[in-house]
Amino acid sequence: MEITFQIPQTGDLTREEYELLVNLIVKVYEETEADLFKTQIPRTSLEELQELVAEKQFIVARIGQGIVGGCYLRRRNDEEAEFGMLATLPELQGQGIGRRIIEFAGSESRKNGFKYLLADVLYPADGSSHPYKDFLLSWYGKLGFNYHRELTFEAKYEKVKGMMARPCKMIILRKTL
Ligand SMILES: CC(C)(COP(=O)(O)OP(=O)(O)OC[C@H]1O[C@@H](n2cnc3c(N)ncnc32)[C@H](O)[C@@H]1OP(=O)(O)O)[C@@H](O)C(=O)NCCC(=O)NCCS
Repeated sequence: MEITFQIPQTGDLTREEYELLVNLIVKVYEETEADLFKTQIPRTSLEELQELVAEKQFIVARIGQGIVGGCYLRRRNDEEAEFGMLATLPELQGQGIGRRIIEFAGSESRKNGFKYLLADVLYPADGSSHPYKDFLLSWYGKLGFNYHRELTFEAKYEKVKGMMARPCKMIILRKTL
């Protein structure tokens, strides 16, 4: 199964491909975070994805011609790059595509002079656990990410104020490149 990676520019993706990516990201986040939000907020939009592509901040993974996943990759500061909105097609999950996307994000970041790659994991802050987020934390651990710091989710994203089903925090993991 050969996976190829692309950091598309505006015009490189068809309308159908933009829509596939937006629908994929919105769907997988809705499924895994439904219990954290009182009001579902779509994780992304066509406009946001188009902006990320215009800034060359979105990685697309393909098998053959078909898109199988992606994530954004952007600068957080001079030393740290961050990825997010990581998603792979549900029917192809568990086959190493997610790991390969993160590896690609790491090698691109290293090539661009960053020392660290960051991953954010939304997690309940009321003492409760969350099986899917626990799986993600342990998976990222296996991929070389360590706990770095955390902040309240509402502090990071103003627009979610009042929309959470329970208080949440953002756990920030960091991997040395
Ligand atoms: C997280 C996500 C990107 C992982 O993508 P993926 O292509 O399944 O990633 P991989 O196959 O490289 O690894 C997934 C791990 O979970 C296991 N896994 C995940 N889904 C699985 C499934 N349906 N069946 C079997 N194993 C599965 C894999 O065995 C693997 O564990 P391992 O590395 O110990 O073998 C994908 O599940 C997803 O889109 N999740 C929803 C969005 C999300 O939570 N994004 C991250 C937010 S911080």
